[in-house]
Amino acid sequence: MNRIYFDYAATTPVAPEVVEVMANALQKYYGNPSSIHAEGRQSRAAVEKARKQVAQCLGASIGEVFFTSCGTESNNMILRGCVNDLEVKRIISTKTEHHAVVHPLDKLAKENSVEVVYLSQDKKGRIDLEELKGLLEQSSLKTLVSLMHANNEVGTMIDLDEISEICQEHNALFHSDTTQTIGYFPIDLSKTRINFITGSAHKFYGPKGTGFVYINGDNILKPFIDGGGQERNMRAGTENIAGIMGLAHALQLSMDHQDERREAISAIRTYMIDQLQANFEDIEFNGDWEGKFHYKILSVSFPPSDKSDMLLLNLDIAGISVSGGSACASGAEAGSHVLSNLLGDSPRKTIRFSFSHKNTKEEVDFVIEKLKEMVPVGV
Ligand SMILES: Cc1ncc(COP(=O)(O)O)c(C=O)c1O
Repeated sequence: MNRIYFDYAATTPVAPEVVEVMANALQKYYGNPSSIHAEGRQSRAAVEKARKQVAQCLGASIGEVFFTSCGTESNNMILRGCVNDLEVKRIISTKTEHHAVVHPLDKLAKENSVEVVYLSQDKKGRIDLEELKGLLEQSSLKTLVSLMHANNEVGTMIDLDEISEICQEHNALFHSDTTQTIGYFPIDLSKTRINFITGSAHKFYGPKGTGFVYINGDNILKPFIDGGGQERNMRAGTENIAGIMGLAHALQLSMDHQDERREAISAIRTYMIDQLQANFEDIEFNGDWEGKFHYKILSVSFPPSDKSDMLLLNLDIAGISVSGGSACASGAEAGSHVLSNLLGDSPRKTIRFSFSHKNTKEEVDFVIEKLKEMVPVGV
């Protein structure tokens, strides 16, 4: 059997159709989009066509979409921009955001004396909307609410409409890190008022190194990178034309096939849950796995044992790619800030399975058989 890849929340392979678009772009659109000659104009038109496509997929205006290098950059741009340019003095968030939000928030609190308030969460990672309302009522400081749409480790989701309404009622800005949900859930910004969302092409079968940020037209941020004035002066640097075209095409494909992919992925996830429950006595599912969850993510924990000590490594040797929590830059099996914040210190071994529409039940069966050799079945 080929290797089994169950790590689609870490990243996805580039779709063949996207590779084609990008290969063509690399050859055809070599002109600098800022040049006024024919080659430059052709490249400019390609970038603007991609922007229009992304805007349409999100129910946004063309002028509200800016291309960046990744989700991390997009989140940094928004958080810093809100503090530096929009006079935000207080940020309400959670401790289980991705590091691309957690770390900039730590820095802003230290270096810019911004008050960062963390909402409490239950063990599943759910927030209490009454607490959010209370916090917003308590202070007259200009506030940004920054809450990820779906948690990348445990899959717990928020309801964007609910939070959007609360933020509007209390005159607070709302940013959502939608990196895991863009292309997977319908997000219509013409109906749901959100000030900022962020996305990254490599999570939806596009290339690595290309992301975007949506900045609602009412909010004017200053340039994040100074220089030649590209991206309407928000992010200088010659555009990654092939990456941008790849992102737009990948997003379009994800939107066009969203329903059928969702059905296929949900079926695999349900089958995995059933098989785990049938074969292991002492398993726990993390996050809001039966409530508001991302259908591509399933986080499971097994009891500690000698055998499960090197679980990720042993699965890898068996040809199975999964994550322990989130992928970490060093590749090490590092502890997860999400799990420790939700569940405290636990000796249990957690695996995050994350699926694609291409995964099969046979792959799940193979993983279950291998897991039986590696963790206590308990029966
Ligand atoms: C929720 C979330 N935010 C941000 C990021 C960072 O995105 P990128 O890898 O494009 O920088 C990720 C990627 O793992 C993510 O899952």
